[in-house]
Amino acid sequence: MRVAVCISGASGAVYAKRLIDYLENRVELSVVISEDAKKIFEDELSLNFFEFTKSMGFKLYKNSDFYSPLASGSHILDSCVVVPCSMKTLSAIAHGFSENLICRCADVCIKEKRKLILVPRETPLSAIHLENMLKLARLGVVILPPAPAFYGKPKSISDIVDFVVGRILDSMGIENRLYRRWE
Ligand SMILES: Cc1cc2nc3c(=O)[nH]c(=O)nc-3n(C[C@H](O)[C@H](O)[C@H](O)COP(=O)(O)O)c2cc1C
Repeated sequence: MRVAVCISGASGAVYAKRLIDYLENRVELSVVISEDAKKIFEDELSLNFFEFTKSMGFKLYKNSDFYSPLASGSHILDSCVVVPCSMKTLSAIAHGFSENLICRCADVCIKEKRKLILVPRETPLSAIHLENMLKLARLGVVILPPAPAFYGKPKSISDIVDFVVGRILDSMGIENRLYRRWE
């Protein structure tokens, strides 16, 4: 399975890290991170992004790299996840404004009718944010807000993170036991 994880500059870098940790060694993984996301990743996780990537086997592309295979529809992806997805990146994707690799990769998924999952992080949401999400949902894009359920009785932040990441993996069609399902 070939997967792209794109990290944009919203709060919630922990979801991206957990998803990458899970996917590493399970799929052929490509990662793109925006400049703002890199700063937020380091701020929220107290972890240098390049230190994190050093021991990993995934392909890392610059957000300015339009020569990346991710920029072309001829490169077949099973799914692309933007996690977390800032309102700026959400807006650019909703309007086909592919000024960076993350938006271009999402644009390609939409035109090629491939699985695209956005994990938008903002609160409260304005009518602009909601209209952009509705537009994308109508095109078949999965809008998956990081909204944890509490029926699994989470005991830690990592349980809450795993619920959200487990739901992202479900949406990608990747088997996981990251959270307790409602029986
Ligand atoms: C610490 C921090 C947290 C942020 N959190 C959010 C957020 O949760 N949602 C959002 O839409 N923007 C957030 N922003 C603003 C975005 O980073 C900003 O709009 C940026 O231009 C997004 O660019 P990108 O989508 O290309 O990464 C945050 C900025 C900072 C510095």
